[in-house]
Amino acid sequence: MKHVNKKLWGGRFSKSIDSLVHQFNASIPFDVRLYEEDIIGSIAWARGLMAAGVLSDQEAETIIDGLEQVRSEFVSDRFDLHSGDEDIHSAVERRLVEIIGPLGGKLHTGRSRNDQVATDFRLWVMRACDVLGDQIAALKHALLVRAEDDIDVPMPGYTHLQHAQPITCGHWLLSHFWPLCRDSERFAQARKTASVMPLGSAALAGVAFALDRQALAAELGFDAVSENSIDAVSDRDFAVDFVYASTILSVHLSQLSEQLIVFSSTEFGLISLDDSYATGSSLMPQKKNPDTLELTRGKAGRLIGNLTGLLATLKALPSSYDKDLQEDKESLFDSFDTLLLALPVMAGVIRTMKLCKDRMADHLDSGLLATDLADHLVSRGVVFREAHEMVGQLIRLAEDKDVELSDLEPHDFLSISDQFGGDFEHVFDIQAAIARRSSIGGIGPEALRRQLDAARTKLDLTARRL
Ligand code: ARG
Repeated sequence: MKHVNKKLWGGRFSKSIDSLVHQFNASIPFDVRLYEEDIIGSIAWARGLMAAGVLSDQEAETIIDGLEQVRSEFVSDRFDLHSGDEDIHSAVERRLVEIIGPLGGKLHTGRSRNDQVATDFRLWVMRACDVLGDQIAALKHALLVRAEDDIDVPMPGYTHLQHAQPITCGHWLLSHFWPLCRDSERFAQARKTASVMPLGSAALAGVAFALDRQALAAELGFDAVSENSIDAVSDRDFAVDFVYASTILSVHLSQLSEQLIVFSSTEFGLISLDDSYATGSSLMPQKKNPDTLELTRGKAGRLIGNLTGLLATLKALPSSYDKDLQEDKESLFDSFDTLLLALPVMAGVIRTMKLCKDRMADHLDSGLLATDLADHLVSRGVVFREAHEMVGQLIRLAEDKDVELSDLEPHDFLSISDQFGGDFEHVFDIQAAIARRSSIGGIGPEALRRQLDAARTKLDLTARRL
């Protein structure tokens, strides 16, 4: 790395910058990944300056060729960063001038790094929304396929992590599909919010040349142009929206992780992770640890921190550009990078895990049907509150006798209420209990089929939008 200390803003300074201050000020270590967006934005800007009569056709062409060369150096990893480069914008301009000479200095006419960075960052976020959208779709697809395969396999359902009611495997898996649909929608919305072009706002007051901002926006793929130049260089709502969408997604992944961790424990044994998605212990030979899932669970904390940090940076900032805004990138990049690994890993876990159906069946005790027993009494005219009380007493009796609810003797039932006369054996049929829950969103076979169709449609729609 050459040390060149010439700054874009050096003219009014009598001394060169202190080297620690340079280091403190520099964002190049992390904003170098904006090079593609910076160069695309600069090419569009050069064309805009040409159309506005600020650059001749020949000048614009030379600048654009030079920028293309800078881009190819980045793409082929030949770009030589200098220790004096402050950020991606100054690095690209520095290299452009090296390649085409002083003409390169005309590119920044009418532009500030304030509108430049906001433009680059928005373009990057728009692309990131698409990339994560694809990864979410792949995870949703994995869940949908597994749910389809075992749509009606019964398993215990939990509330408070205690046995609640029977559900089906497919229903459980799809319960993690729908939150991801909302995540897809949040990223689509974050993309829309980002798709407003700040370029042409200059430092804060707008550009003094006749730039056609609408044409610039169309060329760069923005939906709209910003309406207020001060707001345009201040606004980082789009970054918050992206980081928020990332955070709630990571919270969803942590919830799925936790469930799979619990289900894969020896005590539950409802699923088993594939060896390729588990890790071992350096001491205990028998261990198969769900590190992938624990990391996914843990990383949600990191993403929450990223969101909190970004919001804290933005809080009470004076409007227009303040250098604090340079702090907007690392947390967002980190959230993106984290999800870009976590999402395909989770999809792999889902695709490869084994569902232990025998074990699920073993866990289907008749206590899961206590509500159905109360419902049976209701169908015989008993008030639900009273039915609930009676079944509660039966449960206690079964516990005292150390038997299952369905193993109590007829006289035990009658000792609680004569409403238990007659036949109610069918209440303890798990499949019948599942079939009864046939209203939309329930676990009955028709409702499940409908849910699957809705999920398939949703996935197709999402895939099309991406
Ligand atoms: N590196 C800066 C950032 O990321 C670019 C904008 C600098 N603008 C300025 N007026 N110093 O925010």
